Amino acid sequence: MEIIRVKNAEEGGKKAFEMIKKGMENGAKVLGLATGSTPMTLYKEMTSSDLDFSDMTSINLDEYVGLGGSDEQSYRHFMDVQLFDKKPFKETYVPNGKADDLEAACHTYDQIIEEHPIDIQILGIGQNGHIGFNEPGASFDGTTSVVDLTESTINANQRFFEKAEDVPTKAVSMGIGSILKGKEIILMAYGENKADAIKGMIDGPITPEMPASILQKHENVIVIIDEAAASKL
Ligand code: PGA
Repeated sequence: MEIIRVKNAEEGGKKAFEMIKKGMENGAKVLGLATGSTPMTLYKEMTSSDLDFSDMTSINLDEYVGLGGSDEQSYRHFMDVQLFDKKPFKETYVPNGKADDLEAACHTYDQIIEEHPIDIQILGIGQNGHIGFNEPGASFDGTTSVVDLTESTINANQRFFEKAEDVPTKAVSMGIGSILKGKEIILMAYGENKADAIKGMIDGPITPEMPASILQKHENVIVIIDEAAASKL
């Protein structure tokens, strides 16, 4: 893992943007994208740049079960507002959290990933070490599936909803096995509440109890962290 320490999320967003730009110059065509607070500064850099994404494909990590694109808390809506409305891509994929047959939708999503191998995968990390919505205990070779969110994740994401009861308890998430197929992975983390997860990911044993720890085995991972997230290293 290459670790890059930055002053703050703004600087982190700029670093990640430079890497994406370089990747695209070298032929990257598919970006694996993430939601949450962490990638927002990266998306700001992308939308304010003059880089053209109209030949690019994006594949997002996850979506809440029960929410569709017209729901403001859906990840499809988040991505449209933060990035795609301002920077059109050739095609953008986000799991369908409202599919009648969620199992079939997961299978379809795996086919999409297979047909569009991810060149650069953007990741945040949960306070419990999750990547995507792959919570502690998730299999390292998992594919897209419906997952139960842990209490820690529900609490952490409550800030985006009016009430705790409004936070969905399930999500569709790309699996860890699929995430690991990304040719290059850029994981960003900012703030003290990520310090334990960052320590476990980098210095801890590789264990499903700390999902991000499997990234130690990937050949091309760049970790962008601020001092607070790095404080326990
Ligand atoms: P955050 O979420 O960027 O909103 O902190 C990251 C995650 O849960 O993966």
